[in-house]
Amino acid sequence: QSPESQSILEAHQWLAKLYHHLLRNSKEGKAAYQYLIDRGFTEETIKKYQIGFSPNSKDFVVTFLEKKGFHPQTMVKAGLLSANDHGEYTDRFRGRVIFPLRNHLGKTVAFAGRAMGEQEPKYLNSPETELFHKNRILYNFDLARASIRKQKTVVLFEGYVDVISADQAGVHNGVGTMGTSISTNQANLLKRYADKVIVCYDGDRPGVEAASKAAKLLKSVGCETFIARVPDGLDPDDFIQKHGGDRFQREVIETSDTYMSFMMSYLKRDYNLQIEGDRITYIEKILQEVAMLDRAVEREHYLNEIASEFEMSIDTLKEEIQRIRGQKP
Ligand code: UTP
Ligand code: MN
Ligand code: MN
Ligand code: MN
Ligand code: MN
Repeated sequence: QSPESQSILEAHQWLAKLYHHLLRNSKEGKAAYQYLIDRGFTEETIKKYQIGFSPNSKDFVVTFLEKKGFHPQTMVKAGLLSANDHGEYTDRFRGRVIFPLRNHLGKTVAFAGRAMGEQEPKYLNSPETELFHKNRILYNFDLARASIRKQKTVVLFEGYVDVISADQAGVHNGVGTMGTSISTNQANLLKRYADKVIVCYDGDRPGVEAASKAAKLLKSVGCETFIARVPDGLDPDDFIQKHGGDRFQREVIETSDTYMSFMMSYLKRDYNLQIEGDRITYIEKILQEVAMLDRAVEREHYLNEIASEFEMSIDTLKEEIQRIRGQKP
């Protein structure tokens, strides 16, 4: 590790401590603390995740880092400070609630700053650095790892707050993709640690869209994949705040759909099955998915289901599957 990376790493550990301290002990931090309490975070959770606050001051953090001997230019590279045209430095996250982003060893390597009002962006994330590659890190993997191993299952969320809120609700094996897309790298990581992945993205349209993409990728690297449905366009945290953690576990996590049953209803949304042309296109699409399944029993099971739903012969469907599988690279 280069001296610069070492310095960036150290600066993050100091700042995580400082931001957390300021959330609890500064006058300005009070409103941020209250914001978190109002959102349903407990004192214990705030501590566990070292959630913090960056005061709306131009030079507080700059001075702090200078006193500790960090070079401002390195801190700019780290994404902790911004520099303006006049060569002045300011804290990049000022005025925001801070979520430290930890790597798999539990070291803070980046931050996400959430606006407390309607400012854009809602979350300001650290840029990519030598220590922080968004598509290699899974949020909360360090803390969730033991529970993932024990349950052989991991739950995948899109938001930081969803992961934390689920943990508070008793779902301790949750990790986050920090946005909506999951990389092959992250999918392979999950595959190494868990037999089963439950995708639990937001219940709004972009969330369902992203869930189908994530599920496809996870399936393609060989994960046993399930998709949890959060009703009414809510996200997992919304659901927990509204209905409580027990209902979240029972009605969302434990009743998640298998990959194929999710795909069937997901694809049906786009087609009017009363219309012949649509019906045929739908059947073709769903057969593409069936053809991807590794196990012959599983393929047979769904072919039977499709055959009876559309009153087709299973032999025709099987032929089609053979054809598609023959084309596979
Ligand atoms: P959401 O918009 O669903 O936010 O984005 P959220 O997690 O529900 O957050 P709250 O409840 O409003 O506080 C999901 C994830 O996408 C990334 C973040 O990782 C966020 O947790 N995101 C979203 C950003 O990085 N920047 C943004 O401006 C918005
Ligand atoms: Mn528990
Ligand atoms: Mn969302
Ligand atoms: Mn959300
Ligand atoms: Mn949310």
